[in-house]
Amino acid sequence: MKSKKTIGWIGAGRMGYEMAGLLAKGGGDVLVWNRTKEKAKPLEKYGARVADRIGELAERDIVFVMVSTYKDVKQVVTDLLAAGKKPGMLIECSSISLEGSAELREMLEKKGIQYLAAPVSGNAKVIKAGKLTFVCSGPKKAFDLALPLLEKIGTGASYVGEGELSRIVKICHNVFLGVVTQSLAEITVLAQKAGVPRHAFLEFMNQSVMGSTFSRYKTPAFVNLDFKVTFTPHLLRKDMDLGLDAGRKFEVPMPLASATRDLIQSMIGQGWTEQDFATLLLQQAEASGLKLKPENVEVGDGLA
Ligand SMILES: NC(=O)c1ccc[n+]([C@@H]2O[C@H](COP(=O)([O-])OP(=O)(O)OC[C@H]3O[C@@H](n4cnc5c(N)ncnc54)[C@H](OP(=O)(O)O)[C@@H]3O)[C@@H](O)[C@H]2O)c1
Repeated sequence: MKSKKTIGWIGAGRMGYEMAGLLAKGGGDVLVWNRTKEKAKPLEKYGARVADRIGELAERDIVFVMVSTYKDVKQVVTDLLAAGKKPGMLIECSSISLEGSAELREMLEKKGIQYLAAPVSGNAKVIKAGKLTFVCSGPKKAFDLALPLLEKIGTGASYVGEGELSRIVKICHNVFLGVVTQSLAEITVLAQKAGVPRHAFLEFMNQSVMGSTFSRYKTPAFVNLDFKVTFTPHLLRKDMDLGLDAGRKFEVPMPLASATRDLIQSMIGQGWTEQDFATLLLQQAEASGLKLKPENVEVGDGLA
């Protein structure tokens, strides 16, 4: 492959849009395809080009994929390769199962396409703050080739080994995301019902040893009830299900993950699907007989 790689980018959703934008801003030669073309068009202001057909990306050196589920990944990769042309490497960043990732690897290896599994940690705001991280698996030489591009998008990329190992790391990460968010919702509602304003409670938590990048960046949503989507309840349920499937496969009991999965299900069942998954807080408040109001207090997200 030549030193300046041509890049194809499939999927300009919340995550893909920001990631492709950083590559283009960083001087990359980026050709983007999104099922809903208009969503990708604003990327042109960063120097990216937007394709009409997915097949236009087939002969790029490296193609990134950032869509929703494995079913969608399979669909876009099949369409990409339909005309018999092929890229040098495919980097798949969506959160998908071990089995899906292995099936994709087999499909790509048969066609002589290098494959790096590279799911990510962080939402669109985290990407903008330059703090996205990748966890990667596959052939080490594919990782070494991809690393300069990954470093243009995020702050770090960890190589965890061959095959689909990065998938289980990402699944574990998101099970933790679900469980921690539910736990934070429970204790925030408990403290408030006992009389402590949410901003005061979370300020203390964030400064304590229990505070984290995550608890800090969810604080504005919890305090002021801004539930503009960063990550949908449906996508979080998908990841909890991937975690529970993996628990069954490897015979690991996951009682907290099971309970949290069902709480996310309750939220979806009630029709809370179009806002951020942090509406787990509202569900918890409702179950506690509490009607939450925005506190209208300025709180930082710790990302600046
Ligand atoms: N949001 C987060 O905080 C976050 C963090 C880490 C990882 N993830 C993972 O990253 C992936 C993307 O998440 P997101 O939040 O960016 O989701 P999103 O905003 O819903 O975007 C999904 C993207 O996939 C495309 N897509 C879905 N199904 C497709 C299909 N069958 N054919 C072609 N394109 C299809 C959508 O195209 P359209 O625009 O046409 O709908 C859109 O570009 C998911 O696997 C998610 O679990 C998300």
